[in-house]
Amino acid sequence: MENKTTERKSEHIRICLDKPVEFEKKTNGFEKYDFVHNALPELEWNDIDTSTVFMGKKFSMPLLVEAMTGGTHETRKINQNLARAAGEIGIGMGIGSQRAAIENPEAVSTFQVRNVAPDIFLLANLGAAQIVEYSPDKIKSAVEMINADALVIHLNTAQELFQKGGHRKWKNVLAGINSACSLGFPVIVKEVGCGISADVARRLEESGVSAIDVAGAGGTSWIKVEYYNNSSTLSKQFFEWGIPTAESLEQCSKSVSIPLIASGGIRTGMDIAKSIAMGASLAGMALPLLRPATESYEAVKEKLEEIRTGLKATMLLVGVRNIEELKKIKIKRVS
Ligand SMILES: Cc1cc2nc3c(=O)[nH]c(=O)nc-3n(C[C@H](O)[C@H](O)[C@H](O)COP(=O)(O)O)c2cc1C
Repeated sequence: MENKTTERKSEHIRICLDKPVEFEKKTNGFEKYDFVHNALPELEWNDIDTSTVFMGKKFSMPLLVEAMTGGTHETRKINQNLARAAGEIGIGMGIGSQRAAIENPEAVSTFQVRNVAPDIFLLANLGAAQIVEYSPDKIKSAVEMINADALVIHLNTAQELFQKGGHRKWKNVLAGINSACSLGFPVIVKEVGCGISADVARRLEESGVSAIDVAGAGGTSWIKVEYYNNSSTLSKQFFEWGIPTAESLEQCSKSVSIPLIASGGIRTGMDIAKSIAMGASLAGMALPLLRPATESYEAVKEKLEEIRTGLKATMLLVGVRNIEELKKIKIKRVS
């Protein structure tokens, strides 16, 4: 099953498990914002409802398992564990870039998770480079391959720039995204850890995308992941590159009206609550779920339950009963 793309993907997983791949100085930026504590919430724990609806699908909490992997035997297990846990908890999930499966049909089954999660909100995934290169039929096949609800297109210029033999041509990406938007399924565009600015968000909205995942700085740094892969000293200058997630979310929520997903360094239920209060419809999380997913679906579930408890606790302490009320709560900038 191994080819160059799948070999690289296995290496990425190993690096993400073994090396310090997160931003060192730059944070996700949510510590700069604070809720106002409500000492009189007049609520019981069981009154708090964390459920929400995103693109017509019910989620038990506003969280998405972000795109990570697929392509090898090892990654099949990871996807199955993530999907089963997402299904049992009742949240959505993205799978990793399907380029590997489009280049090598033997890898297709490693991305397929409907056997364990028939009803989850499931996202297909291709990179900007493939969107420019592939025919409409090939792009459609990514969605059909896994019976997805929507296609995610990731923008990863910085990562490719520091990847040995990485992609260098970034023209016509917006036109490719625009064409993909007419193929009959919703398209979500995301970064992979450098964030989306107000201007880029506006151009994406105009091109017809259904939602934007800001995937900002402060969590996994793909420039660092590539550094551990090829030791390029140039990449060291760019370790802290990118728009912090909270700042990216603030910029995008002022500039567009399509739904936003806040990912990049989301680590706690409080981060999710702050994302929602600052205009996101969902938050997303990748790295913290990777190690549990190499163990078992129960381990992923346990991590997700811990996150949900943190979200519920935050909601109680600001005195909101549900996600609609959380969206309206005041959050103030403290630094
Ligand atoms: C092991 C791993 C593999 C990833 N692979 C992909 C991918 O194939 N496609 C994609 O859009 N994003 C990919 N990402 C990026 C994540 O979806 C997410 O945008 C980013 O890691 C920020 O979230 P985090 O800080 O919670 O990890 C990957 C992340 C990790 C940790």
